[in-house]
Amino acid sequence: MDFKTLISELIAEAAERPAEEIYSALEVPKAAMGDFAFPCFRLSKIFRKAPPAIAKERFEKLKKPAVIEKIDVVGGYINFFIDKTAFNKSVLEKILKEGKAYICSDEGKGKTVCIDYSSPNIAKPFHIGHLRSTVIGNSLYRIYSALGYDTVGINHLGDWGTQFGKLISAYKHWGDKKDVEEKGISELTRLYVLFHTKAEEAPELNDEAREYLVKMQNGDEEALSLWKWFVDISMREFQRVYDMLDISFDSYAGEAFYNDKMPAVVEEIKSKGILEESDGAQVVNLDEYKMPPCLILRRDGGTLYPTRDITAALYRKKTYNFSKCLYVTAVDQKLHFAQWFKVLELMGYDWAASELVHIPFGLVNLGTEGKLSTRTGHVVLMEDVLREAVEKTRAIIEEKNPDLEDKDEIAKEVGIGAVIFDDMFNGRIKNIAFDWNKILNFEGETGPYVQYTHARACSLLRKAEATAADTDIDYSLIADESSQALIKALGDLPAKVKEAAEKYEPYIISRQLIEICQSFNRFYRDNSVLGSEGDVKKARLALVYASKTAIKEGLYLLGIKAPERM
Ligand code: ARG
Repeated sequence: MDFKTLISELIAEAAERPAEEIYSALEVPKAAMGDFAFPCFRLSKIFRKAPPAIAKERFEKLKKPAVIEKIDVVGGYINFFIDKTAFNKSVLEKILKEGKAYICSDEGKGKTVCIDYSSPNIAKPFHIGHLRSTVIGNSLYRIYSALGYDTVGINHLGDWGTQFGKLISAYKHWGDKKDVEEKGISELTRLYVLFHTKAEEAPELNDEAREYLVKMQNGDEEALSLWKWFVDISMREFQRVYDMLDISFDSYAGEAFYNDKMPAVVEEIKSKGILEESDGAQVVNLDEYKMPPCLILRRDGGTLYPTRDITAALYRKKTYNFSKCLYVTAVDQKLHFAQWFKVLELMGYDWAASELVHIPFGLVNLGTEGKLSTRTGHVVLMEDVLREAVEKTRAIIEEKNPDLEDKDEIAKEVGIGAVIFDDMFNGRIKNIAFDWNKILNFEGETGPYVQYTHARACSLLRKAEATAADTDIDYSLIADESSQALIKALGDLPAKVKEAAEKYEPYIISRQLIEICQSFNRFYRDNSVLGSEGDVKKARLALVYASKTAIKEGLYLLGIKAPERM
């Protein structure tokens, strides 16, 4: 049993209150005041007495279990001091014995979470804005999996819509097969941009594009095979990025997948009496909820982005019976999600309100360029950003550690890890100012710093020839302040993983990793590991081993590799 639960139960009995209530009220006081504190003012309403009086009456005679060193009643607080040896043993033994499983749990057993993330648009650049969705979604995927949930990663590709009519038209007028094959998305984007320029002078091009779209919808062979080709060309490029990031999905069912499923859903919306005409289009009025209407069918009968999302949600509910379905997109899609979540609710699906969750995130600012756009062609491609990160890291390694083996592989793990870590170091909603000097700094609060600390721990273990965890340890030998701080940071990680899942915030893990690494480096500065001997050395090495495990597994949850040498 962990200490917090033990203490909650102790107090619960004396206070005659449920242990869960006590558990959530327990505080972590300043170091000298103990390891846990219970504020008695919580009980003063119930007992109609001042907190100090309650503390005195109820808790002065608390029976002290062996693992608790001391219980102090100070004013309205009861402070608990945990026996250091017992604490060290409970934290470290769990890590040493369970390894990776120490941060896992089975709280999600039997429940399914669908995560819709990355979801780039076919024939459009995979830009740095998609990076955030991809890495945050992937991290949430790993976190929920670690907590025992069945997790379904869905890449809801933007593979249908008016842009394809335009693209087919542009390709037929000005495109060249070889160019598209060779240059891929950049050539498709060029054609798309060209279409918009030309259509300004020749508006009839728009009619032509619409006709191609209708052809696609009616199953015209030529139109569909061009569409399919654009999809394949784009996927090839997306896949290169996913490979670099080491990310894969359980489902690639994109928007087109729902084409044949939408008519029934539109019928259903109509039958619920909530579909109305507006300017020739079919919409669901949301005035009452202070939102603009949700567009279901265009004037020409074509379906729209919300129609596809509503259909996809119903399909996923039926197919996966999720307890949550998360949508990781930029904050500028907030209204879109609020609107169609509401439509599902109005259709009578109560689960929509509690089980569908939009996970918004802020923008990435690249100096003066501001928000990125495809129309104008000014985009920063994700592949280029990742390549540059690897190249810059390669140069740093060349300078700092030219004899390192596997330099290319390590530069990849560190460079890409640096970009991912930076993306998840703050709350999602905060905008990111992209800055190479900050991201790649080995001494800041960065991915390379965390990886470097891990590699340092690995190197210590190598030098000590300690390959496996040894649990036959005298835990009283690591009771000094900096060892204690490190052990505490290690012990807190599992709770942080849970919190990250509850709040959909991977940064809670990245911050804890920084805490662990800073504590590790302080521990290492204050205590000689290789220079110590006997049982002391053994205990310190166990702490190094546990730190290495925690950092590696924490990085894994963020989607970052942990090289053993750097
Ligand atoms: N393709 C969209 C975009 O790039 C994101 C899709 C997000 N997922 C969803 N189910 N709407 O903006």
